[in-house]
Amino acid sequence: MYKLNENDKEYIDGLWERIDKKLQWVAPATKDKLPYTTINGVYNNMAEDDVSWWTNGFWGGMMWLMYLGTGNEMYRDVAERSEELLDAAFDEYDKLHHDVGFMWHITAGVNYRVTGARKSYVRASIAADILASRFNIKGGFIRSWNDEFPGRVIIDSMMNIPLLYWASRETGDDRFRHIAVAHADKLMTAHIRSDGSVNHIVHLDPETGAFEQSFGGQGYGEGSSWTRGQAWALYGYVLSYIHTGDVKYLDISKRVAHYFIANICGEWVSRVDFRSPEEPVIYDTTAAACAACGLLEIARVVPEHEKRLYLSAAINIVKTLDTGFCDWGDKEQSILQKGTEAYHREATREIPLIYGDYFLAEAVYKLKGNKLLFW
Ligand code: GLY
Repeated sequence: MYKLNENDKEYIDGLWERIDKKLQWVAPATKDKLPYTTINGVYNNMAEDDVSWWTNGFWGGMMWLMYLGTGNEMYRDVAERSEELLDAAFDEYDKLHHDVGFMWHITAGVNYRVTGARKSYVRASIAADILASRFNIKGGFIRSWNDEFPGRVIIDSMMNIPLLYWASRETGDDRFRHIAVAHADKLMTAHIRSDGSVNHIVHLDPETGAFEQSFGGQGYGEGSSWTRGQAWALYGYVLSYIHTGDVKYLDISKRVAHYFIANICGEWVSRVDFRSPEEPVIYDTTAAACAACGLLEIARVVPEHEKRLYLSAAINIVKTLDTGFCDWGDKEQSILQKGTEAYHREATREIPLIYGDYFLAEAVYKLKGNKLLFW
């Protein structure tokens, strides 16, 4: 699927083996948890702490990546257990938010697509119904959170809407796709700036959908460039292209990718914001890992002569994360280190974050030639 030279192929094979070797002991030890970060090297458990937390699908998603990439049934058992643990979030119904896509599309959604399991189909379908129900018909967007701001929309949502494209295909009911497309179109003008950088949070008028104000969100400040938000846009828009065939979404993804590559090249690891002061240096490796996955999808869908830019950037990122930011030892359960929740949240800067491991594993899964698109 990707044309890798012999050195890169050998390198990626070796990296996949290291991920597998580490997860072979981490996965059974974490079977009854939904991990978010590690404390003294051991994964915490969001099934107890906050089962509705937006990242609670990444562990199960990573277990599916490992099952499909290795055939080891142990990973499938752990993935299925995580899906059961996640059910408690449906009982906390009014705490749920737009991140039901992150939570169920790569867990129950993948389970259903791989095994046809009826229970997983129901879970993914309920999640799609919840997400669709958040659509503001007059404003033309999906509401992000349940706070006092009904017009608040965050760029992260572009990763949730593939659940809606799936629901339309699965049910034959185009309403889900219409909602996803309206949302993607709205964010193209509200969030994506002309230079390829991206607003994190935007307030829209809930009566008209008109742009009111943008906020720095988890980045440095208004007008800055939170790197994970850039990655959500880069990956999210190429996914909308793949699911709809509308080339304007690919063009947006490429524009954000060019901006991302221009800012990361040389270092090949992301700081938390491309437009924060030089000091202090605060890394957010999760942004680079997620962007690598989006770059690999762009590389897959563009014509032959365009592929090299995106593929080589993704490989540079993966190698840099592996050599400088991963823990391959047996005292620490997470792999990718130095993820950051938000620039101004000092307590959660440069910590392991489960989605960092997920996206690193997904990038290597893709580079190995595995075909199932999780999103
Ligand atoms: N979706 C929230 C975040 O990226 O931190």
